[in-house]
Amino acid sequence: MSEKLNFQDRLLSLGLGRVSEAAALASARLIGRGDEKAADQAAVNAMRDQLNLLDIKGVVVIGEGERDEAPMLYIGEEVGTGNGPEVDIALDPLEGTTLTAKDMPNALTVIAMAPRGTLLHAPDVYMDKLAIGPGHKPGTVTMSMSPSERVSALAAAKGCSTEDITVCILDRPRHEDLIAEVRSTGAAIRLITDGDVAGVMHCAEPEITGIDMYMGSGGAPEGVLAAAALKCMGGQFFGRLLFRNDDERARARKAGITNFDRVYTRDDLVRSDVIFSATGVTNGSLLAGIKREPGWVTLETILMRSKTGSVRRMTYKSPLR
Ligand code: FBP
Repeated sequence: MSEKLNFQDRLLSLGLGRVSEAAALASARLIGRGDEKAADQAAVNAMRDQLNLLDIKGVVVIGEGERDEAPMLYIGEEVGTGNGPEVDIALDPLEGTTLTAKDMPNALTVIAMAPRGTLLHAPDVYMDKLAIGPGHKPGTVTMSMSPSERVSALAAAKGCSTEDITVCILDRPRHEDLIAEVRSTGAAIRLITDGDVAGVMHCAEPEITGIDMYMGSGGAPEGVLAAAALKCMGGQFFGRLLFRNDDERARARKAGITNFDRVYTRDDLVRSDVIFSATGVTNGSLLAGIKREPGWVTLETILMRSKTGSVRRMTYKSPLR
């Protein structure tokens, strides 16, 4: 049997759940302590240690940065025991370092795994993102539509008024015009201060989260992670890389990207089945945050496989170490 056929092994996906759990557990003591770096470092160390216990020949394709700027979980780092399927790993040990340091909602630890060569090696540049939930025809919303056209198109597809649509957008000065245009349609906006992986994931469960669409620019690596999540949960995702200077274009070339204007669909970013795990760090509308009681800690993880469409929510209680 080829090694890639072993990729979707059920035990391997459970192992991935332990990886995001371990990162969250390590950041537990640092929630609300105002130290982003320490929280991130704790999550990185724990995620790396746990990942190296998995029987995989893994390569980090979305990680903490280039080798010269990130000592651990850098792009190209080999992870796992070396015995097992060849896989690509996309990770963000702490998605929302500021959210964690300030104890604000929706900080997560995130990791996705797919057969080798199937995740886009996204450079560390911005990506313009658009996402909606499952159950809509292809072409319902597109990157070529203006923001207001997207809101109207989604409202028409849902059979509701534009005033019934809620769009999630990162609260940034660069989004001033986008926010004004979306508001002009009558749609509501949920502004988030950080954490657009969670922002995009919210679109997959609009009846629970109240969010119908995600729009705006954020990190391209986070775009690949968000696409992996939506591939498991259902939903459409589109992303276009944004370049501010020649250095960023050089980063893209180094990652093998030649068409700088390409609109990537969810399945261009994640070209095969994928497994995805995220653990809540601070409370959010998708996942409960880490709950600390004297001597104990409780975590919630969402663990998903695109092949089966399975979405598992797991609660883990552990002595606080
Ligand atoms: P970190 O936790 O790595 O700081 O990322 C948080 C985040 O909000 C991402 O979710 C998002 O993609 C990116 O930062 C947005 O970047 P910027 O803060 O430059 O707008």
